[in-house]
Amino acid sequence: MQDIVQADDRAASIILRLRTMLKRAAPDRQTLSVGEVVEEVLHFMRADLLRRGVQLRVSMAPGLPGVVADRVPLEQVLINLIGNACDAVAANAPEQRWLAFEARHEAGHVRLSLTDQGSGLPEPAERVFEPFYTTKDAGLGLGLTISRSIIVAQGGRLWAEPHPDRGATFHLTLPAA
Ligand SMILES: Nc1ncnc2c1ncn2[C@@H]1O[C@H](COP(=O)(O)OP(=O)(O)O)[C@@H](O)[C@H]1O
Ligand SMILES: [Mg+2]
Repeated sequence: MQDIVQADDRAASIILRLRTMLKRAAPDRQTLSVGEVVEEVLHFMRADLLRRGVQLRVSMAPGLPGVVADRVPLEQVLINLIGNACDAVAANAPEQRWLAFEARHEAGHVRLSLTDQGSGLPEPAERVFEPFYTTKDAGLGLGLTISRSIIVAQGGRLWAEPHPDRGATFHLTLPAA
């Protein structure tokens, strides 16, 4: 019963967030703590990660400044990146089903990176940002297109790199407070 209630709450908050996004409300930029944003995203995704047997390792540089961003769309972007990475590692052996999230301070901005050792990127990697590019039966192929426009609108960048061994790293930058 508790699981059902929690899933219901989570669905309600996702719908609320999507509605806010789709209404194209004026951006509500604030100084956000990366730690708090990540905690909230993890709260939304915990049940999903558990169910899929995916471990998320978080590493944040000490003394990280805040980022200037709009919380709701930023969280949607992170949820989409983590969801994609979970899909990419779904066929891995259980001990290879982990994702590494990193946050560090660079000149004038904060860089967030998510690495997986999953199925890997097409060549060129940039294709994943094309509208309707998808390799999933039930995929829409719009998640990354929309994510990039959200991040660019906030003065940042979003790009993907193949990981040297296997899998991918998605990087995003946001202005530091
Ligand atoms: N972490 C990843 N590893 C490998 N491929 C990825 C990853 N993230 C995204 N992709 C590829 O990019 C495509 C587009 O992603 P997205 O725009 O979120 O749409 P969707 O998830 O609906 O397919 C995915 O179908 C997948 O082929
Ligand atoms: Mg997606």
